[in-house]
Formats: sequence, C-alpha cells, structure tokens
Amino acid sequence: MRRKNNRTPLEKALDRRPLTLTMHQAVPRTGVVVIMGFRGEGKTALACRIMQEWQKRYKMGGAILYFPQRMRKLLPSWVKRADSIDKLPKDSVCIVDEAAQEAHARRFQAGANIDLEELASLSRQRNQLILLVSHHSRKLDVSLITDSDLLLYKKPTEAHYLFERSEVQPITRKVLDEFYKVKGSTKPWAYVVDLHHLKLGWLKFRLPTFWDERISTWVGLIGKEKGRKAKKIERR
Ligand SMILES: Nc1ncnc2c1ncn2[C@@H]1O[C@H](COP(=O)(O)OP(=O)(O)O)[C@@H](O)[C@H]1O
Ligand SMILES: [Mg+2]
Repeated sequence: MRRKNNRTPLEKALDRRPLTLTMHQAVPRTGVVVIMGFRGEGKTALACRIMQEWQKRYKMGGAILYFPQRMRKLLPSWVKRADSIDKLPKDSVCIVDEAAQEAHARRFQAGANIDLEELASLSRQRNQLILLVSHHSRKLDVSLITDSDLLLYKKPTEAHYLFERSEVQPITRKVLDEFYKVKGSTKPWAYVVDLHHLKLGWLKFRLPTFWDERISTWVGLIGKEKGRKAKKIERR
C-alpha cells in the first residue's frame, strides 16, 4: 500500500471534503464540458439549465445538435437546432448529445465518433461552450477526461465503476460514494470534477424554466420525422 505522504495530488484531492460551487464557479464560460451519468438522472436538464444561465448572464445563444424540427416549439426561440457539428452557432452554448449523434449516424450509416479535439478547437475559435452529454461508461476513455475542460457527473451506477478504465475508476468511486450520501433525490445534484485544477465539489441546479418533460425524450425521436406526417408539437 502506498504510504500516506506519497499520495498523488489527485489522491489527496479525492480525499478532501467536496466544495459547494455555484454554476458560475464550476463551469467555464467557453470550452468543452462532459456531462456523464446514468440515464434519467438529469443530464439533459443540467445541460439546458447551463445554456439558460449563460444566455442570461453572458447573452450567449444556445443550440442543440439534431434536435427534431417538430419539437422545436418546446424550446425558447433563442435556442437553435443544428444538423452538424460545424454548423453549431458562434457565441453559443451548444448541447451535443452522444446518443443523438449515434441515432443520427445509424440513420445515415455513418460513424458515430465525436472528435473531441475538433470540438475543443471549434469551441475556442467560435466562443462556444460545448456541453457533451456522454451516456456510456465505455466512452469514459482517457481522451474524454484529458481533452475536456470539466467533467460534470450525474449519479453513475456501480456498473459504470466496474467496467470503465482503471485510470478513471478512483474518480467514479469517489463520485458514487458522494452520491450515496445525498438525502432525497439525486436529480438536482451534479458532482463537479475539474482535473486541471483539482477542484471537486457539488453543484445544485434547478430545472430550466422552459423545461418540458418531452425534452427528456427527444433523442428517441431522431429519425422518426419522416415516413409519416410529422405531428407538430405545440406548446401547451
Ligand atoms: N434539477 C432537477 N430537479 C428536479 N427534477 C429533475 C432535475 N433534473 C432532472 N430532473 C428530472 O429527471 C428526469 C430525467 O431528466 P433528463 O435530463 O431527461 O435525464 P437524462 O438526460 O440523464 O436521461 C426528468 O423527469 C426531469 O424532469
Ligand atoms: Mg438525456
């Protein structure tokens, strides 16, 4: 066993008590932020809330990659849809959901890999905050960890911990153990892991004011617009 004073800075950071951070303390103004966690834990809601906060505070726009046209009315008018990564608008918070990317790729039989390096360089050139929602623990590879500016964890599961790469396991272990301490619903909580500055802590967030439960399901509707007359969704 490693002696206590031989511990790495990361090991020490993982042992410290988590900070309590506001969204603006935790999340960089631009760059690439990876949002992970089990389905239904609130990844999309968190991404939408950050987009709304940045619109209010920095007057940035918003965009969601592959958001279906017929659900457009569920989003405020300042949120755009984009059909490819290079069409994501400048000066905006852009939500890139890997599940959407995969669904879209299946539709066109193309590869589904998102090039993080490309996203990171685009975000710098175009003054974007890119929120990459990552669903699969197998995607928790080293490039996601090293190339992104920040990791935001929604509650993972023991399966995430068990099947991911050994380099990432101590982080997920810590995150899971912290989530086990949460009393009540874990959905309003995200665990912030900034590995560049070794800043770890909690972020509490509310649903965006424009939230509609149907926004949760949009990924599943990709590719279903054609073939039958698309039923438009009206705001209730
Ligand atoms: N901060 C929050 N407070 C209360 N409920 C939330 C919050 N975030 C998410 N939820 C609820 O959790 C459910 C799943 O959210 P969603 O963002 O679609 O999850 P995911 O994208 O991880 O599958 C939704 O019913 C949503 O209303
Ligand atoms: Mg989602």
